[in-house]
Amino acid sequence: RSLKWQLQCRSDIGRLNAPFLAIYESLIPPEEEKAKQKQLLTLLEKLVCREWPEARLYLYGSCANSFGVSKSDIDVCLAIDDSDINKSEVLLKLADILESDNLQNVQALTRARVPIVKLMDPVTGISCDICINNLLAVVNTKLLQDYAQIDVRLRQLAFIVKHWAKKRGVNETYQGTLSSYAYVLMCIHFLQQRRPAILPCLQNSALTPHSPPSWGGLCLIQGMEKTYSVIVDDIECAYFDQVEKLRDFGSRNGETIAQLVWSFFSYWAYRHDYASSVISIRTGSIKSKQEKDWTRRIGNDRHLICIEDPFETSHDLGRVVDKFSIKVLREEFERAADIMQYDPNPWVALFEPY
Ligand code: GTP
Ligand code: MG
Repeated sequence: RSLKWQLQCRSDIGRLNAPFLAIYESLIPPEEEKAKQKQLLTLLEKLVCREWPEARLYLYGSCANSFGVSKSDIDVCLAIDDSDINKSEVLLKLADILESDNLQNVQALTRARVPIVKLMDPVTGISCDICINNLLAVVNTKLLQDYAQIDVRLRQLAFIVKHWAKKRGVNETYQGTLSSYAYVLMCIHFLQQRRPAILPCLQNSALTPHSPPSWGGLCLIQGMEKTYSVIVDDIECAYFDQVEKLRDFGSRNGETIAQLVWSFFSYWAYRHDYASSVISIRTGSIKSKQEKDWTRRIGNDRHLICIEDPFETSHDLGRVVDKFSIKVLREEFERAADIMQYDPNPWVALFEPY
């Protein structure tokens, strides 16, 4: 491994930008898909309000965080402001309501880690999962969406990484690989770490340590106040959300998408310290497993790759990874890094189905 650390980026990397940008663009959902999602949400609101007039529906996940590719399912959260509800009962009732309105494939999964009702709307052709009172997911969706507004390279990189992960079969939490949410956190963290930084740390009220000192001085100091703050499940979720003021944050860094894809995979293949590091977008830094007390297996949490949730800080998104799947993941990172280094047309092999 150590030899490969030294590798310099290939000299023809500029040639690879256009093909990667074309792949990114082909994955962006067309406007009519957004309109259909809205249409389905309106229908669901109408049905839900009849039974629970005070309830609200929120879109979350990739249909609302800017990282959704074309033809994704949508994730909806039903928020009922009542701590006494029995989620299983609500889900079963909801499934009844949906079924009698001709929605298809309605299924209540009351025993899942996040209990949901699944459905397919025959009118729009969209599939949807509805969960109950999962407001942290709604808030972390907003955080991701806000990061996406700052620099378009985040959305480009995350689309390429998610596309790669799906094609290579390493986006399956039930098989011990990582969720899409985890991959987006990895991309945000990676762009926070570039020099000069491409993304700031929105949750850090202090100055981002590695941001260029000359960069919009005044704006930066005022800028990192916590302009958004909510308390969800006893967790304070607060950060600077006036991201329109940060639009030129990354402009001192001229790296293009092909360089970033190359560097992202070489980081996760050869430079990340799996034995002792935790990536944290909350602090915009790398923390040690020691300070998080993530050094040993507790129950099913093995901490073989550590990705701190930005709000539930005791939560490691890598907890699903076991001693078999860590090997699969690392081999895939190495494969991707080697393709990005040596393959004349890396965009073909990178996305080859496994
Ligand atoms: P695709 O459906 O694959 O396009 O991606 P997605 O962005 O919808 O991701 P995913 O299905 O992994 O998760 C949906 C949403 O659930 C995420 O955007 C998060 O808001 C939330 N989420 C997923 N996993 C976790 C988790 O472990 N902890 C928390 N707090 N939220 C999570
Ligand atoms: Mg989703």
